[in-house]
Amino acid sequence: MAQEPVRVLVTGAAGQIGYALVPMIARGVLLGSNQPVILHMLDIPPAAESLNGVKMELVDAAFPLLKGVVATTDVVEACTGVNIAIMVGGFPRKEGMERKDVMSKNVSIYKAQASALEKHAAANCKVLVVANPANTNALILKEFAPSIPEKNISCLTRLDHNRALGQISERLNVQVSEVKNVIIWGNHSSTQYPDVNHATVKLPSGEEKSVRELVADDAWLNGEFISTVQQRGAAIIKARKLSSALSAASAACDHIRDWVLGTPEGTWVSMGVYSDGSYNVPAGLMYSFPVTCRNGEWSIVQGLSIDEFSRKKLDLTAEELTEEKALAYSCLS
Ligand code: NAD
Ligand code: LMR
Repeated sequence: MAQEPVRVLVTGAAGQIGYALVPMIARGVLLGSNQPVILHMLDIPPAAESLNGVKMELVDAAFPLLKGVVATTDVVEACTGVNIAIMVGGFPRKEGMERKDVMSKNVSIYKAQASALEKHAAANCKVLVVANPANTNALILKEFAPSIPEKNISCLTRLDHNRALGQISERLNVQVSEVKNVIIWGNHSSTQYPDVNHATVKLPSGEEKSVRELVADDAWLNGEFISTVQQRGAAIIKARKLSSALSAASAACDHIRDWVLGTPEGTWVSMGVYSDGSYNVPAGLMYSFPVTCRNGEWSIVQGLSIDEFSRKKLDLTAEELTEEKALAYSCLS
C-alpha cells in the first residue's frame, strides 16, 4: 500500500541552508526512498519572491517522492498539519550588532513560532532547531510550546558530530564510515566539547580499536582536534564568506533520519536535547548528549566514564548555556 506523505516544514527555506536542504528532503534523504513528502516552506515577506523561485525549481526537478509544496510567508499556513519541523529561519548577526541584539531578535521569532507550532502542527510533531543560537532558540521554543512534549524538541549538533568524525578519519586515513561514537557535549558554539574517549574505528581486519589508541597522540586529541571542531564553523565562514550550508543541511537530514528510523546497533549520535540532569548537566538546559534512537524516541546513553579533563569541559559549556538562557529571558521580559 502507498505510504501517506509526511509533511515537513522548513523555515528560512529561501536561505542558504534551505536551498541545500529542500532537494535532499524531496529526494528521500530525510526519511528514506519510499517515503513521500509534502514540503512546507516558510520565509518572511522580503524573501517571498526568492521562496517562490525555490518552489519553481522543486517543480522543475520533478522529484517522484514530492507530493506537494506549500510556499508561504504565513506562519499558520506553514505550520498547519506538519509532522516534522526543521527550523532554519532566523536573523543573522550583522556588522555592529551585539550578541544580545541577535539573541533578542531570534528568541522573539522562536517564541512566536512556538505558539504557531503548538496550535497548528500535527500531534507528535518532531522539531529540530538549526538557527543560531540553536540550543537557546530550541529552549525558548520548548518553553513557549508547553503542550509539545519536551522529547519532541531538539537542536542540531550533528554537524559538529560529523565534523569530529571527519577530523578523525583524515588524521587516521580511514573511511569516515568506519569511525563511530564520538560525542559532542553542550552548546553548538565554540565551548562545545568534542569527546573521543569512547570513539572507535573498525579496521579492515574487522577489529574495533579505540581512537585514542590508534591516534596515539593525546596532545593532538586534547588540543588541536578539539579546537578545530569547535572553530570549524568560523573556518567555513572565513573560506566561503558564508556559513556552512551543504554540511548543515546534510547533518539536519542525518539528525531527523536517525531520530525517526533509529540509530544503528552499537552506535550513538549527538543531539541537542532537554537535559534531565544526566552526567550532572543542569536539568532544564538544551544540551548536546550522546543518544541512541528507537521507535522514534531518543534516549541519552548512560554510564559513560567522564574523566577530570572532560568534566571541566562539560561544565564550561553548561555554564555558557546557563548564561545564554538568562540572556534570552532578559530579552523577552
Ligand atoms: P540565511 O540568512 O541564508 O537564511 C536564513 C533565512 O531565514 C532567510 O531566508 C531569512 O529571510 C529567513 N528568516 C528570517 N527570519 C525569519 C522568520 N521569522 N521566519 C522564517 N524565516 C525567516 O542563513 P543560513 O546560512 O541558511 O543559516 C540559517 C541559520 O542556521 C543561521 O542562524 C545559522 O547561523 C544557522 N546555522 C546553524 C548550524 C548548526 O549546526 N546548528 C550550522 C550552520 C548554520
Ligand atoms: C556552523 O557551525 O557552521 C554555524 O553555526 C556557524 C555560524 O555562525 O553560522
